[in-house]
Formats: sequence, structure tokens, C-alpha cells
Amino acid sequence: MMMVNAKLALLLVSVAAFGYLQTALAYSEGAPLEVCTDLMPQHGAPAQTKESPYTLTLNRKSVKGGESMTLTLASKDFSKFKGFIIQARDSNDKPIGSFTSLPASKNNAEFKGKWKLISCPDGPTNNTATHANAVEKSRVVLTWNAPKNLEGQSLKLKYTVPKNGGEYWVGKESESVSVTKKN
Ligand SMILES: *[C@@H]1O[C@H](CO)[C@@H](O)[C@H](O)[C@H]1NC(C)=O
Repeated sequence: MMMVNAKLALLLVSVAAFGYLQTALAYSEGAPLEVCTDLMPQHGAPAQTKESPYTLTLNRKSVKGGESMTLTLASKDFSKFKGFIIQARDSNDKPIGSFTSLPASKNNAEFKGKWKLISCPDGPTNNTATHANAVEKSRVVLTWNAPKNLEGQSLKLKYTVPKNGGEYWVGKESESVSVTKKN
């Protein structure tokens, strides 16, 4: 009986380790759709509760339908990060707007191939930006486009940043951006 239990325990440990490895590997190529709602990477470690070293800066405080906004994800203490998930959410917490695949700046060398766009359910195409590889990044600059028929009072950007496989900050929110009605 002891023997059987020991074998079973070993099997369970192996299965768990394999699952963990699979997840870690999968995530090196960006977050899958399972993260869409809670932005929780399933890395197997709990989210950090200490203050995040990362900030998401927006180039505007208000936005109109059809306008775009530049978002910069960077760290306060020069620590790099391997991954990220960023999504704009409307007042009902649904994904809103879409990202442009490359930064607005003409010099893309710093950013090329570092991220990709995914389309989370209940929102437009390319409503979520995530890393494309696990190369350490010091910053990411993205262009987000408001839908033409932008409605509601305000929106927010929500973001998750894995520093590495075991240390990450989940679902942090940017300052809220007010929605201005078109004339
Ligand atoms: C979504 O993003 C991909 C690149 O990541 C691009 O090829 C595609 O055209 C985009 N789709 C729309 C509807 O913007």
C-alpha cells in the first residue's frame, strides 16, 4: 500500500511539474485566450501583492471616438520584464478598441517582433496586446485606437506584467481616461 501511494505521489508530482513546464513554455510566446477575463497568467505562482515596479503611461486624459492614444509600459526602477498583457476596458469591464500592430514611431528596431495582438472574446479584433517572446524588455510603446462609436463615460487600461515566470503583477489599472463626445 505504501508503495502504491509513493508511486501515485510521484506520478502526481510529475504531472504537475509537466503541466507547469507546459504553461511556462506556452507563455514564452505570449498569453493565450484563457487570460482574457482576469488577465491572470497561469504561471503556477501567486500574483505579487507588493507595489508593482511597472507603470503604464498614457499620452492623453480624454479620448473621442476614432482617436488613438499612445501607451508606454516601463519600469520605475529599470527592472526589465519578460511579458505583458494590456487591454482597454469600458465601464462594463469589457475589452474596447484595438491596438495597432507596430508603434507609431518610424523607428521600430527596439520593438520589432516583441509583441503581438490577440482578440479576446466580447470585443473587437486585436483588442489585447501581449508579448511575442520571453526576451527581457525595458519598455513597450503601443498605439491604441478608440472605436469610432465610442460610448460611455470613461475607460481604463488594465495590464499584467510578468517580470519572469515566478514574479508577476496582475490586472493593474491605468488612470481612467474620460470619453469626450464627438461634435
Ligand atoms: C490584427 O493584427 C494583426 C497583426 O498582429 C494584423 O495582421 C491584422 O491586420 C490586424 N487586424 C485588424 C482587423 O486590425
